[in-house]
Amino acid sequence: MENTDQLTERKARQPVGVFDSGVGGISVLRELIKVMPNEDYIYLGDSKNAPYGTKSLEQVRELSFHNAQVLLEQGAKGLVVACNTATSAAVRLMRGMYPGLPIVGIEPALKPAALQKEHPHVLVMATPMTVQQEKFRQLMARYEDRAQIYPLPCPGLMEFVEAGDLESERLYDFLRELLTPYLTKPLDSVVLGCTHYPFARKVIQQIVGENVTIFDGGAGTAREMRRRLAAAGLLSPSETAGTVTFENSLATEEELELCQRLLHMDI
Ligand code: DGL
Repeated sequence: MENTDQLTERKARQPVGVFDSGVGGISVLRELIKVMPNEDYIYLGDSKNAPYGTKSLEQVRELSFHNAQVLLEQGAKGLVVACNTATSAAVRLMRGMYPGLPIVGIEPALKPAALQKEHPHVLVMATPMTVQQEKFRQLMARYEDRAQIYPLPCPGLMEFVEAGDLESERLYDFLRELLTPYLTKPLDSVVLGCTHYPFARKVIQQIVGENVTIFDGGAGTAREMRRRLAAAGLLSPSETAGTVTFENSLATEEELELCQRLLHMDI
């Protein structure tokens, strides 16, 4: 029989599970690898059912629970919900379902953007579901006195990233139309409140201009996961670089190639 220490040590060698509605969460995976390079990761993208951001709350919950279960069945020692939409819809319920399991979600990085300077103007780009959720309303309410916040639902944007289109003219035109009403505001920052959007960052920056600071929550989420694993004694004891396994509900070769490309590209 293993004692508790032996059990924890064995568990620490198991992979970290990461999921998203598609390939967007790879922007979070990149940050996880930066702060915990020796961990093994299983990244599950649900591209077959993407987008989540325009589905019903019930659907997103069901899909999120399913993703969590798939990762746990493969021995994940903790879960990163690398999707703002799934986090706002399901993370609280998931914590209730798996007490004791380190589960970290992602939310729009409004805090650093709102505290960046005296009363900044902050545009928050996210999915329609994320901006409608109570979780986001509460987040906004916390910073409303300190910043002028413009929530902007961006249906259709994640589809470009899912298709591997990160800098075409079509993407530029799409974003230009979406962002034009805000270009007359004295914008200080843009928060990328969907994990797909960091992959379109260059085009967004080009449109809003170099003086606007772009924030995303990937790095903070990765640091939080490291804290949670450390607190549970579950950081990998390995001293060599870990592995990344990609799984996707659209298990085509193109999809898995896109995952590799997004993991290694310069953003
Ligand atoms: N990547 C997801 C997020 O962070 C959502 C994209 C979608 O499925 O709509 O919100």
